[in-house]
Amino acid sequence: MFITFEGIEGSGKSTAIKRLKDWLQEKGQGVTLTREPGGSRLGRTLRSILLDIGNNDLTGETELFLYLADRSQHVHQVIRPALDEGVGVISDRYADSTVVYQGYGRGLDPKILHQLNDVAVRGLWPDLTLLFDLEPEIGLKRAMTRNLQDGTCASEGRFEAESLAFHTRVREGYLTWAAINRDRFRIIDAAATPDEVFEQVRAAVADVFSIA
Ligand code: TYD
Repeated sequence: MFITFEGIEGSGKSTAIKRLKDWLQEKGQGVTLTREPGGSRLGRTLRSILLDIGNNDLTGETELFLYLADRSQHVHQVIRPALDEGVGVISDRYADSTVVYQGYGRGLDPKILHQLNDVAVRGLWPDLTLLFDLEPEIGLKRAMTRNLQDGTCASEGRFEAESLAFHTRVREGYLTWAAINRDRFRIIDAAATPDEVFEQVRAAVADVFSIA
């Protein structure tokens, strides 16, 4: 069982991921939670480079190859070994983030990005990808409130500091990419209440993995 969560900043993925883990464990399915960037030891260093607002001079290609390097380590050291042991994996972001942020967001070719991803993950694609869909205005507001509550500055991170136009391209890119890959994507209405959002997640997972 390999499930990925995708969506813009502030779409409520992390809350739903924790609830899904608890629910799956109640059903007897062991799961491990992980995320990108930063799911492996090397990845944690790459994450701090990628999200550091001081690194706003990275070229789009540098950014791309750092995300791909993070993903390759993550698959090799964390995801594949867990799946081989029969442990389910839930990842907060995965390869689709690259197609959408570096492709639809930054303007690199999504088809080439998909091929590079396939090399990085050695053909390992999720069974199910849940896209948390939300208007970027709402997502960005939520992300800023969360950062303030965490005690970090309101616009922490290179992506949260991006323009609304960028996040609108990302949101639309996700919807386009989900339509192209409709066999594995399910769209979650992330504007709903946390309980309603979780219910949509639970129903999709129960359906795809035939859990009663
Ligand atoms: P993070 O703080 O983990 O964001 P979130 O809580 O929204 O998941 O930061 C990850 C950022 O990196 C996020 O803005 C999306 C971006 N990203 C890419 O641009 N490409 C990628 O391949 C991945 C995995 C993330």
